[in-house]
Amino acid sequence: MKSGIVVLDFGGQYAHLIANRVRRLRVYSEIQPPDVDAKELEGACGVILSGGPASVYDPDAPPFNAEVLRAGLPVLGLCYGHQLVCQCLGGEVAPGSTKEFGSAVLAVRSRSGILKDLADREVVWMSHGDAVRRLPDGFEVLGSTPDCPTAAVGDPGRRIYGLQFHPEVAHTPSGMKILDNFLTLCGCPRTWTMENYIRATTEEVRAQVGDRNVFLLVSGGVDSAVAFVLLNRALGEARVLGLHIDNGFMRKRETALVREALREQGFRNLHVVDASEDFLLDTEGLTDPEAKRKAIGTTFLRVKDRVLADLRLDPEAYLLGQGTLYPDTIESGGTRHAAVIKTHHNRIDLIAALIAEGKVVEPLAQLYKDEVRELGETLGLPKRLVYRHPFPGPGLAVRALCARGDEQFEGLEEAQGQVEEIAARYGLKARILPLRSVGVQGDFRTYAHPAALWGEAGWGDLERASTEITNRVRAVNRVVYLIAPDTLPALRPKRAFLSRPRLDLLREADEIAMTALETHGLMDEVSQMPTVLVPLSSDGQREAVVLRPVSTPDFMTARFTELPRPVVDEIAKRILALGGMEAVLYDVTHKPPGTIEWE
Ligand code: XMP
Repeated sequence: MKSGIVVLDFGGQYAHLIANRVRRLRVYSEIQPPDVDAKELEGACGVILSGGPASVYDPDAPPFNAEVLRAGLPVLGLCYGHQLVCQCLGGEVAPGSTKEFGSAVLAVRSRSGILKDLADREVVWMSHGDAVRRLPDGFEVLGSTPDCPTAAVGDPGRRIYGLQFHPEVAHTPSGMKILDNFLTLCGCPRTWTMENYIRATTEEVRAQVGDRNVFLLVSGGVDSAVAFVLLNRALGEARVLGLHIDNGFMRKRETALVREALREQGFRNLHVVDASEDFLLDTEGLTDPEAKRKAIGTTFLRVKDRVLADLRLDPEAYLLGQGTLYPDTIESGGTRHAAVIKTHHNRIDLIAALIAEGKVVEPLAQLYKDEVRELGETLGLPKRLVYRHPFPGPGLAVRALCARGDEQFEGLEEAQGQVEEIAARYGLKARILPLRSVGVQGDFRTYAHPAALWGEAGWGDLERASTEITNRVRAVNRVVYLIAPDTLPALRPKRAFLSRPRLDLLREADEIAMTALETHGLMDEVSQMPTVLVPLSSDGQREAVVLRPVSTPDFMTARFTELPRPVVDEIAKRILALGGMEAVLYDVTHKPPGTIEWE
C-alpha cells in the first residue's frame, strides 16, 4: 500500500470515521479486514484497530491476524481494538462493573507519546461494556477515567497503544490531537488532499462504467447532488441521467428547489417524476420501521425501472448511481462485522444484489458528510447547496411514526419507577411513552421506549437526567422533554399510518420549525432538525410532535442542540396553532444512545 495508515475494521460504528480523521490529517488511509494478510501491510506507517460490537472472549469474535502486532509497526487499538491488543499481548479483559456510554473525564497521567500536549483532564467519549483488567508486560497506564482505570495504556518502547475511549468522534475534543500525535510517531507523510480523491475516483468510475451509462437518483440533498456533479465530470453529461423521484415524503417545496438549483448549475440532464401515489400504496398499513424502509427502497427501484422503460432506455446499458455515504453502509450493517442499526433505503437487499453484480456506482461510498461538503466545494457547487441540512432518502416517511393503535407494552412498571426516581432528583415528573424508537448503544441497534419529562428545568439538568436514565434503564433509549402544554396529557397509541393528511400535517410542522431556525440565524449551529410526528393521543384525534435538533460534524455521534428557549416556545406555539397536534416535545438524547432519526 501507499505509505499511510491501515485501519482494521472490527465492525465498530466508527471504524471508517477513523480513516476519515486520518485523511483529514492529510495522511492516506485504507480499511482492511482484521484477518488481513501481513503482506498488505507492506509500506504502511502504522495500524489502527477499530472498535466493534463483539467481546474479545466471544467464540464468534472476528478472526484477527495477530501477526499485525509483530510487524514492528506502531499500533493503536481503540475500544474493542484496545482490548484485543491487550488480550493478545498477555493482558486480561472482563466485563466492566458499569457500562459506559457518553462523556467521561480522562485524568492524563503521561503527557507524552500519543497524549502529548494534552491537558491534565480531558473530556473523552466512551461506548463500551468490557474493560481491560490486567495490562500486558511492558505496558503502563497513561490515563484513567473514574469508571475505567485502563482508559489509555501503552508500551512506548514498542510504540503500541490502546485507548478505551473514541478519539475519532468529535465529542472527544482533543481526539484529533491524539490521532495527530499517533501519526507523528508513525512518521506518516502528510500529502493526502481532496484533489487526489477526485482524480482517483474519476479513474475508478471510468474503469467501472466502461462504455455504459449511469442513471442516478437525485434526491436533492448534498450527497446525491455532489455525486451527480462528480459523475457528470467523469463521464460527460450525455452519459449521465439524473432522476428526481417525488415520493410524497419530501419537505414543502423541496422538489421545485432541487430542480431549480441544478438547473442554475447548468445541468439539463435531470428528469423529475411524481410517484407519490406508488409510495403511499406500497407503505399502506406498515408500522415497523424496517418494513417501511425496505418498502420505500423497493419502490424507488420499481419507479426507476418504469422511468427507464418510459424513456425507452436499455436497462443493460445503464448502471445505477447512488450518492451513498459511508454511514449509510455501516449503519445498515453493510460491512462484514457491523450490526444493523437501520437499513438505509439505498442498502436494501435488491440493491445489495445489484452491488454484487457490479451494477451500482457509488463515488462517495468511503466518505463522510464533512468530506462530501469539502468535495462539493472543490467541485464548485455553491455553498447554499453544499451546506444544506441532510434529509434522509425515505424523508418524512421515517419521521411520521405509525401504529395500529392496539399496542400493549407490558412489564414496564419497574422501569417506570426508576425513571420517576431519577427525574424526581431534578424536580421533574416522568412517564415512559407507549411506543418505541430506534437507537444505537455500544455498536448495537436498540428499539426501546422514550421517557418523557416535564416540569421546570434547564438544558444542563435535562442532559444529566437523560444520560442517567438511558444508562440505567434498559427499557429506555431516548428522553424527551415537554415544551407545551405544561403537563403531559395521558397519551395512548393512536391508529395511524402513512397517509396524505398526516404527511401534510408533518410537512407544515417541519416548515414552521425550519423557518424558525432560519429566521433566528440558527442553521449553522444545528446540523439537522427532524420534526417527528408521534401517533400518541389523549383524545384519539390529535397527535404529538417531537423536535429533534442535533449538532454533529459527521452524523455518527451527535449532541442534542440546546436551542434558545424563546425560539423553542415560538415553534411550539405555532405548531399547536395548526390544530391536529396536542403536545410538543423536545428530544434531549445524544447519539448514542438515540439515533438522529426516530426510525
Ligand atoms: P441516524 O438516524 O442513523 O441518522 O442517526 C444519521 C444520518 O443519516 C440520515 N439517514 C438517512 N439518509 N437514507 C438516507 O439517505 C436513509 O434511509 C437514512 N436514514 C437516516 C439521517 O437523516 C442522518 O442525517
